[in-house]
Amino acid sequence: MDARERLIVALDGDWELDELIRTAGAFSRTAGMVKLGNRPFTRHGPEAIRRIERSGTGVFLDLKFFDIPNTVANACREAVHAGSAMINVHALGGAEMMRRAREAVDDAWDGTGKRPLLIAVTILTSFDDAQLAEVGIASTMAEEVKRLAALAHACGLDGVVASPMEIDLIRETCGNDFLIVTPGIRPKEDMGKDDQKRVLTPGEAVRRGADYIVIGRPIIQAPNPIAAAQAIVREMEAV
Ligand code: C5P
Repeated sequence: MDARERLIVALDGDWELDELIRTAGAFSRTAGMVKLGNRPFTRHGPEAIRRIERSGTGVFLDLKFFDIPNTVANACREAVHAGSAMINVHALGGAEMMRRAREAVDDAWDGTGKRPLLIAVTILTSFDDAQLAEVGIASTMAEEVKRLAALAHACGLDGVVASPMEIDLIRETCGNDFLIVTPGIRPKEDMGKDDQKRVLTPGEAVRRGADYIVIGRPIIQAPNPIAAAQAIVREMEAV
């Protein structure tokens, strides 16, 4: 994979639809994908995916589906029909839910372009061991992340979203043929500027084994977002 393809730009801003499409389209030659999460999707719906996809930028639909298997499978179908290049579900939804999601994605894909990627979220990085215990999970964070990554792998998912600090653990557990998508990345000059605490630079993340990196504010809030994205790609190329 080339460095440009590895970059996913998180579009979490408060944009009207046309502005969102323009912003996404501007990255068509600099990034592999843009990430649409709950906020822009709830506001603009699948039309946003369709229009961004038509502008030549791939969409990572970050809605983290978690429901009964049939409902998640149908949601995955809709996400593929809308043109998503990457979709995610919560591994905590269980093996049957993940298997049904896998089948739905493969079945809904029309065979053109690249097969949409299906990724699992293990434990949200906003959780700590105390919060895990609060919801009745007695394992440590590392044990739980490991267990859920292995389950996602066994269910045929393409990879997981993981914090930069979990890359080694997941590689050890799931091998090299399993995608790792990492947020919590900061270019060196942006270290310590915002709320992301346990961060790596783009180069370090790729060196450690991340396949895709998700970066939002350091690109979107830069005076020249395209130049900021290009600098990140150059840093990854140098690895
Ligand atoms: O602006 P920033 O680079 O922090 O954006 C990172 C994106 O990745 C945001 O959309 C954020 O919600 C998401 N994310 C994260 N940490 C996680 C999982 C997702 O920052 N562990």
